Amino acid sequence: MPTAPLPANPDAGAGPQHVAIIMDGNGRWAKARGLPRVAGHRRGADAVRRVVRGAGELGIPVLTLFAFSTENWTRPADEVADLMGLLRHYLRSELDELRKNGARLRVIGKREGLAADIVRDIAEAEGTTASNTRIDVNICINYGARDEILRATRRLAQRVAAGEITSDSIDQASFESELLTAGLPDPDLLIRTSGEQRISNFLLWQCAYSELVFVDTLWPDFGKDHLEHAIVEFRRRERRYGGIGK
Ligand code: FPP
Repeated sequence: MPTAPLPANPDAGAGPQHVAIIMDGNGRWAKARGLPRVAGHRRGADAVRRVVRGAGELGIPVLTLFAFSTENWTRPADEVADLMGLLRHYLRSELDELRKNGARLRVIGKREGLAADIVRDIAEAEGTTASNTRIDVNICINYGARDEILRATRRLAQRVAAGEITSDSIDQASFESELLTAGLPDPDLLIRTSGEQRISNFLLWQCAYSELVFVDTLWPDFGKDHLEHAIVEFRRRERRYGGIGK
Protein backbone atom coordinates (compact mmCIF):
# COMPACT_ATOMS: atom_id res chain seq x y z
CA MET A 1 0.00 0.00 0.00
CA PRO A 2 1.23 3.52 -0.69
CA THR A 3 2.33 5.44 2.38
CA ALA A 4 2.08 9.01 1.08
CA PRO A 5 -0.55 10.94 2.99
CA LEU A 6 -3.65 11.99 1.11
CA PRO A 7 -4.64 15.65 1.51
CA ALA A 8 -7.29 15.89 4.22
CA ASN A 9 -9.80 17.09 1.71
CA PRO A 10 -8.85 15.49 -1.60
CA ASP A 11 -9.49 17.51 -4.70
CA ALA A 12 -12.42 15.69 -6.26
CA GLY A 13 -11.53 17.25 -9.62
CA ALA A 14 -8.47 14.99 -9.76
CA GLY A 15 -10.76 12.02 -9.67
CA PRO A 16 -11.74 9.34 -9.42
CA GLN A 17 -15.29 10.28 -10.28
CA HIS A 18 -16.51 6.69 -10.04
CA VAL A 19 -15.12 4.07 -7.65
CA ALA A 20 -16.30 0.47 -7.94
CA ILE A 21 -15.51 -2.09 -5.26
CA ILE A 22 -15.54 -5.89 -5.22
CA MET A 23 -16.13 -6.48 -1.52
CA ASP A 24 -14.29 -9.72 -0.79
CA GLY A 25 -13.08 -11.57 2.28
CA ASN A 26 -16.09 -11.68 4.59
CA GLY A 27 -15.86 -15.46 4.91
CA ARG A 28 -12.13 -15.42 5.68
CA TRP A 29 -12.62 -12.63 8.22
CA ALA A 30 -15.16 -14.81 10.06
CA LYS A 31 -13.11 -18.02 9.74
CA ALA A 32 -10.03 -16.33 11.23
CA ARG A 33 -12.13 -15.60 14.32
CA GLY A 34 -13.84 -18.99 14.53
CA LEU A 35 -17.17 -17.37 13.67
CA PRO A 36 -19.85 -18.45 11.18
CA ARG A 37 -19.61 -16.88 7.71
CA VAL A 38 -22.72 -14.80 8.36
CA ALA A 39 -20.79 -12.91 11.06
CA GLY A 40 -18.34 -11.81 8.35
CA HIS A 41 -21.19 -10.69 6.11
CA ARG A 42 -22.71 -8.71 9.02
CA ARG A 43 -19.42 -6.93 9.60
CA GLY A 44 -19.25 -6.48 5.84
CA ALA A 45 -22.55 -4.62 5.97
CA ASP A 46 -21.03 -2.32 8.65
CA ALA A 47 -18.13 -1.67 6.29
CA VAL A 48 -20.62 -0.74 3.55
CA ARG A 49 -22.05 1.92 5.86
CA ARG A 50 -18.55 3.27 6.70
CA VAL A 51 -17.44 3.34 3.08
CA VAL A 52 -20.60 5.04 1.81
CA ARG A 53 -20.10 7.76 4.42
CA GLY A 54 -16.36 7.99 3.72
CA ALA A 55 -16.84 8.21 -0.04
CA GLY A 56 -19.27 11.09 0.45
CA GLU A 57 -16.78 12.87 2.72
CA LEU A 58 -14.01 12.36 0.14
CA GLY A 59 -16.14 13.93 -2.57
CA ILE A 60 -16.47 10.81 -4.72
CA PRO A 61 -19.55 11.36 -6.90
CA VAL A 62 -20.27 7.71 -7.77
CA LEU A 63 -19.68 4.56 -5.70
CA THR A 64 -20.63 1.09 -6.95
CA LEU A 65 -20.49 -1.95 -4.66
CA PHE A 66 -20.71 -5.61 -5.74
CA ALA A 67 -22.94 -7.23 -3.09
CA PHE A 68 -24.39 -10.37 -4.72
CA SER A 69 -23.52 -11.88 -8.08
CA THR A 70 -25.59 -14.07 -10.38
CA GLU A 71 -23.09 -16.82 -9.44
CA ASN A 72 -23.55 -16.35 -5.67
CA TRP A 73 -26.80 -18.36 -5.86
CA THR A 74 -24.58 -21.47 -5.97
CA ARG A 75 -23.54 -20.87 -2.32
CA PRO A 76 -25.20 -23.01 0.40
CA ALA A 77 -28.88 -22.10 0.78
CA ASP A 78 -28.44 -20.83 4.36
CA GLU A 79 -25.67 -18.44 3.30
CA VAL A 80 -27.78 -17.14 0.40
CA ALA A 81 -30.65 -16.63 2.87
CA ASP A 82 -28.32 -14.79 5.27
CA LEU A 83 -27.08 -12.50 2.50
CA MET A 84 -30.62 -11.80 1.29
CA GLY A 85 -31.62 -11.06 4.90
CA LEU A 86 -28.77 -8.56 5.24
CA LEU A 87 -29.64 -6.88 1.96
CA ARG A 88 -33.30 -6.70 3.00
CA HIS A 89 -32.26 -5.21 6.34
CA TYR A 90 -29.94 -2.70 4.63
CA LEU A 91 -32.61 -1.53 2.21
CA ARG A 92 -35.07 -0.99 5.07
CA SER A 93 -32.80 0.40 7.78
CA GLU A 94 -30.31 2.54 5.89
CA LEU A 95 -32.68 5.05 4.31
CA ASP A 96 -32.08 7.64 6.99
CA GLU A 97 -28.30 7.16 6.83
CA LEU A 98 -28.40 7.42 3.03
CA ARG A 99 -30.42 10.60 3.29
CA LYS A 100 -27.94 12.07 5.82
CA ASN A 101 -25.14 11.27 3.38
CA GLY A 102 -27.03 12.85 0.49
CA ALA A 103 -26.87 9.48 -1.25
CA ARG A 104 -29.04 8.43 -4.15
CA LEU A 105 -29.36 4.65 -4.16
CA ARG A 106 -29.67 2.54 -7.26
CA VAL A 107 -29.72 -1.24 -7.30
CA ILE A 108 -28.10 -2.73 -10.37
CA GLY A 109 -28.94 -6.29 -11.36
CA LYS A 110 -31.73 -8.61 -12.42
CA ARG A 111 -34.91 -8.32 -10.42
CA GLU A 112 -35.98 -11.80 -11.56
CA GLY A 113 -34.98 -14.34 -8.96
CA LEU A 114 -35.17 -11.89 -6.06
CA ALA A 115 -37.94 -12.26 -3.46
CA ALA A 116 -40.95 -10.02 -4.14
CA ASP A 117 -40.48 -8.10 -0.88
CA ILE A 118 -36.85 -7.30 -1.75
CA VAL A 119 -37.94 -6.05 -5.19
CA ARG A 120 -40.48 -3.82 -3.40
CA ASP A 121 -37.84 -2.61 -0.91
CA ILE A 122 -35.49 -1.76 -3.77
CA ALA A 123 -38.17 0.32 -5.51
CA GLU A 124 -38.98 2.04 -2.22
CA ALA A 125 -35.33 2.80 -1.39
CA GLU A 126 -34.60 4.04 -4.91
CA GLY A 127 -37.71 6.23 -4.85
CA THR A 128 -37.04 7.68 -1.39
CA THR A 129 -33.43 8.61 -2.22
CA ALA A 130 -34.02 9.71 -5.83
CA SER A 131 -33.64 13.43 -5.18
CA ASN A 132 -30.36 13.18 -3.21
CA THR A 133 -27.43 14.68 -5.11
CA ARG A 134 -24.19 14.39 -3.11
CA ILE A 135 -23.25 10.84 -4.10
CA ASP A 136 -24.70 8.09 -6.27
CA VAL A 137 -24.47 4.76 -4.47
CA ASN A 138 -25.04 1.75 -6.70
CA ILE A 139 -25.38 -1.65 -5.11
CA CYS A 140 -25.09 -4.60 -7.48
CA ILE A 141 -27.46 -7.36 -6.43
CA ASN A 142 -28.06 -10.43 -8.62
CA TYR A 143 -25.64 -8.86 -11.08
CA GLY A 144 -23.37 -10.58 -13.60
CA ALA A 145 -21.60 -8.77 -16.42
CA ARG A 146 -21.83 -11.56 -19.00
CA ASP A 147 -25.55 -11.82 -18.39
CA GLU A 148 -25.87 -8.02 -18.70
CA ILE A 149 -23.96 -8.02 -22.00
CA LEU A 150 -26.01 -10.92 -23.39
CA ARG A 151 -29.27 -9.21 -22.51
CA ALA A 152 -28.15 -5.94 -24.11
CA THR A 153 -27.15 -7.86 -27.25
CA ARG A 154 -30.48 -9.68 -27.34
CA ARG A 155 -32.43 -6.42 -27.01
CA LEU A 156 -30.48 -4.79 -29.83
CA ALA A 157 -30.98 -7.90 -32.01
CA GLN A 158 -34.71 -7.71 -31.32
CA ARG A 159 -34.76 -4.06 -32.36
CA VAL A 160 -32.92 -4.88 -35.56
CA ALA A 161 -35.37 -7.75 -36.27
CA ALA A 162 -38.29 -5.38 -35.68
CA GLY A 163 -36.79 -2.93 -38.19
CA GLU A 164 -36.39 -0.18 -35.55
CA ILE A 165 -32.61 0.13 -36.08
CA THR A 166 -30.05 -1.26 -38.52
CA SER A 167 -27.18 -3.46 -37.37
CA ASP A 168 -24.72 -0.91 -38.79
CA SER A 169 -26.13 1.78 -36.53
CA ILE A 170 -25.12 -0.10 -33.37
CA ASP A 171 -22.20 1.71 -31.78
CA GLN A 172 -20.65 1.93 -28.30
CA ALA A 173 -23.13 4.58 -27.17
CA SER A 174 -26.20 2.60 -28.27
CA PHE A 175 -24.77 -0.57 -26.72
CA GLU A 176 -24.09 1.23 -23.43
CA SER A 177 -27.61 2.55 -23.36
CA GLU A 178 -28.83 -1.07 -23.11
CA LEU A 179 -26.59 -1.90 -20.14
CA LEU A 180 -27.86 -1.80 -16.56
CA THR A 181 -25.43 1.06 -15.89
CA ALA A 182 -26.90 3.29 -18.62
CA GLY A 183 -26.32 6.92 -17.69
CA LEU A 184 -23.43 6.23 -15.29
CA PRO A 185 -19.82 7.12 -16.08
CA ASP A 186 -17.44 4.14 -16.34
CA PRO A 187 -15.54 3.36 -13.12
CA ASP A 188 -12.19 5.16 -13.00
CA LEU A 189 -11.00 3.00 -10.14
CA LEU A 190 -11.86 -0.62 -9.37
CA ILE A 191 -10.84 -1.86 -5.93
CA ARG A 192 -10.92 -5.50 -4.83
CA THR A 193 -10.29 -6.37 -1.22
CA SER A 194 -8.87 -9.54 0.38
CA GLY A 195 -5.82 -10.02 -1.83
CA GLU A 196 -7.67 -11.74 -4.67
CA GLN A 197 -6.79 -10.36 -8.10
CA ARG A 198 -9.76 -11.11 -10.34
CA ILE A 199 -12.65 -9.21 -11.91
CA SER A 200 -15.15 -12.05 -11.30
CA ASN A 201 -17.76 -11.03 -13.89
CA PHE A 202 -18.11 -7.48 -12.54
CA LEU A 203 -18.72 -4.56 -14.93
CA LEU A 204 -16.69 -6.20 -17.73
CA TRP A 205 -17.66 -3.67 -20.39
CA GLN A 206 -17.52 -0.65 -18.07
CA CYS A 207 -14.09 -1.43 -16.56
CA ALA A 208 -12.29 -1.55 -19.93
CA TYR A 209 -10.04 1.36 -18.86
CA SER A 210 -10.47 1.34 -15.09
CA GLU A 211 -7.39 1.44 -12.90
CA LEU A 212 -7.30 -1.72 -10.80
CA VAL A 213 -6.19 -1.57 -7.17
CA PHE A 214 -6.00 -4.82 -5.20
CA VAL A 215 -5.69 -4.54 -1.45
CA ASP A 216 -4.99 -7.29 1.08
CA THR A 217 -7.43 -5.94 3.67
CA LEU A 218 -10.49 -8.14 4.15
CA TRP A 219 -13.73 -6.31 3.41
CA PRO A 220 -15.05 -6.18 7.03
CA ASP A 221 -11.86 -4.28 7.99
CA PHE A 222 -12.04 -1.86 5.05
CA GLY A 223 -12.78 1.78 5.81
CA LYS A 224 -12.32 5.36 4.71
CA ASP A 225 -8.52 5.25 5.25
CA HIS A 226 -8.17 2.30 2.88
CA LEU A 227 -10.32 4.11 0.34
CA GLU A 228 -8.08 7.17 0.64
CA HIS A 229 -4.96 5.07 0.07
CA ALA A 230 -6.50 3.49 -3.01
CA ILE A 231 -7.25 6.98 -4.32
CA VAL A 232 -3.63 8.03 -3.71
CA GLU A 233 -2.54 5.00 -5.73
CA PHE A 234 -5.06 5.87 -8.46
CA ARG A 235 -3.70 9.42 -8.72
CA ARG A 236 -0.17 8.09 -9.20
CA ARG A 237 -1.22 6.16 -12.29
CA GLU A 238 -0.94 7.54 -15.78
CA ARG A 239 -4.06 6.68 -17.76
CA ARG A 240 -3.32 6.30 -21.46
CA TYR A 241 -6.48 4.70 -22.90
CA GLY A 242 -4.41 2.91 -25.54
CA GLY A 243 -2.53 6.11 -26.51
CA ILE A 244 1.09 6.95 -25.66
CA GLY A 245 0.44 9.34 -22.79
CA LYS A 246 2.11 12.64 -22.03
C1 FPP B 1 -17.47 -11.70 -0.54
O1 FPP B 1 -16.91 -12.31 0.58
C2 FPP B 1 -18.66 -10.97 -0.17
C3 FPP B 1 -19.92 -11.26 -0.63
C4 FPP B 1 -20.20 -12.35 -1.58
C5 FPP B 1 -21.10 -10.54 -0.17
C6 FPP B 1 -20.93 -9.07 0.05
C7 FPP B 1 -21.94 -8.70 1.05
C8 FPP B 1 -21.79 -7.78 2.02
C9 FPP B 1 -20.62 -6.93 2.14
C10 FPP B 1 -22.82 -7.60 3.09
C11 FPP B 1 -24.15 -7.14 2.66
C12 FPP B 1 -24.13 -6.03 1.68
C13 FPP B 1 -24.84 -4.89 1.80
C14 FPP B 1 -24.87 -3.92 0.69
C15 FPP B 1 -25.59 -4.57 3.00
P1 FPP B 1 -16.81 -13.89 0.61
O2 FPP B 1 -17.98 -14.43 1.33
O3 FPP B 1 -16.64 -14.44 -0.79
O4 FPP B 1 -15.50 -14.07 1.44
P2 FPP B 1 -14.41 -15.22 1.32
O5 FPP B 1 -13.84 -15.14 -0.07
O6 FPP B 1 -13.42 -14.83 2.37
O7 FPP B 1 -15.10 -16.51 1.61
